[in-house]
Amino acid sequence: MSLLIKNGEIITADSRYTADIFCAGDTITRIDRDLPAPPGTEVIDATGKYVFPGFIDPHVHIYLPFMGTHAKDTYISGSQAALVGGTTTLIEMCCPACKDDALASFELWMSQAVGKSACDFTFHMGVTKFDDTSEAQLREIVRRGISSFKVFLAYKGAFGVDDTELYRTLKLAKELGVVVTAHCENETLVAERCKELLATGKTDPAQHHESRPPAVEAEGVHHLLTFAELTGAATYIVHLSCQEALDQAIAARQRGVRVGIETLIQYLLLDKTHAERPNFEGAKYVMSPPLRDVRNQPVLWNGLRDGLINTVATDHAPFDFEKQKPMGREDFTKIPNGIPSLEERVNLLYTYGVKTGKIDLHTMVNVASTAVAKQFDLFPRKGAIQPGADADLVVFDPNYRGTISVKTQHMAVDYSAFEGWPLLGRASVVTVRGQVAARDGLFTGTLGRGQFLTRKPSHF
Ligand code: URP
Ligand code: ZN
Ligand code: ZN
Repeated sequence: MSLLIKNGEIITADSRYTADIFCAGDTITRIDRDLPAPPGTEVIDATGKYVFPGFIDPHVHIYLPFMGTHAKDTYISGSQAALVGGTTTLIEMCCPACKDDALASFELWMSQAVGKSACDFTFHMGVTKFDDTSEAQLREIVRRGISSFKVFLAYKGAFGVDDTELYRTLKLAKELGVVVTAHCENETLVAERCKELLATGKTDPAQHHESRPPAVEAEGVHHLLTFAELTGAATYIVHLSCQEALDQAIAARQRGVRVGIETLIQYLLLDKTHAERPNFEGAKYVMSPPLRDVRNQPVLWNGLRDGLINTVATDHAPFDFEKQKPMGREDFTKIPNGIPSLEERVNLLYTYGVKTGKIDLHTMVNVASTAVAKQFDLFPRKGAIQPGADADLVVFDPNYRGTISVKTQHMAVDYSAFEGWPLLGRASVVTVRGQVAARDGLFTGTLGRGQFLTRKPSHF
């Protein structure tokens, strides 16, 4: 199987030039002008289009038992949605309940993806307890190719770890060279504030952001990074949403703490007024940390532009508006948390980031692909356009004009948080290891072809 992408404008994190890309089997083998097409080669004309390295989403939930229900996607729907939107690699959170063993959970999450996913994938291993048996299991999981852990400082009783567990996890991670990703919110403050709001009859979706204001997240970031400072472990803050949390992370960096920072497409484009929409529609926009005051959006965009914020993810966590969000109709604390966005991240970043001049094309590639690959031990197999890299490529059409709608999406959820939003460009041809897996909004790939990506820890 060979593939030739001709005359595209190749855009990487640090270069821009026009050339042809030849892919033999899974791999990019040549990049040059006027490359010939041997017999049997599939040729794609990319004249007038950009060619990006395949995008990587560093934070998704596909299989997620959570808040008394399950997130809606499977690897069959989720990988198709990812590919149609230009994302060729998924890093999923493996999220065991506190009572579950790590190794069995890892195997369960693997079984959801292997033989189903059309795109490549790996996992952040959730550490939701750290008891006598955990350490050996975590060592074994790292041996099997995982190089990042995930801890939750929130979700008391579900996924949250206590301080002893956090300390031990970070010490083990430091020894193994594993990076620890973390959901940073102070769970005690959240729990107390939820009780207070409910006691005064405040039950609607907008109370969600009242229960976890920016100080709650900033405390979580400061808390994690104090532990990181004392253990020397490398950390990565997932879904950072606001100025206050960013200030804490930057202050820790200045003290020498090792911390990567991720924000989400939702925080860049949506704000808390969405969760205040009447007639329970706000429930579509309930996630944690919550959507913030709009004043935070320029802070986040500037943080990406200036390199303070390293990555943009989706934290894709889809729950139906008709059947699942209403679990919290009488009590906002029971609304399943999450806003779907896996399919739209890349097109939104382009339309509302690049086309508005907030970030340039190189920053877009970096924060949604290359920096992710580097942070999570996938580079240069992923996140690069160079001979030897996997032939994961996105031919992007800047002349496309269209509108986001639930009617055309591949995500298995009954609403779009971005319904009716115009797009000024989209991923038009998407390849996974040399095979065309999506074309003009339609999936053309092979379910089950996606590979588990083994990773070697590097964060010693
Ligand atoms: O609201 C969210 N973010 N749902 C998914 C679980 C998590 O905290 O990442
Ligand atoms: Zn989270
Ligand atoms: Zn998440």
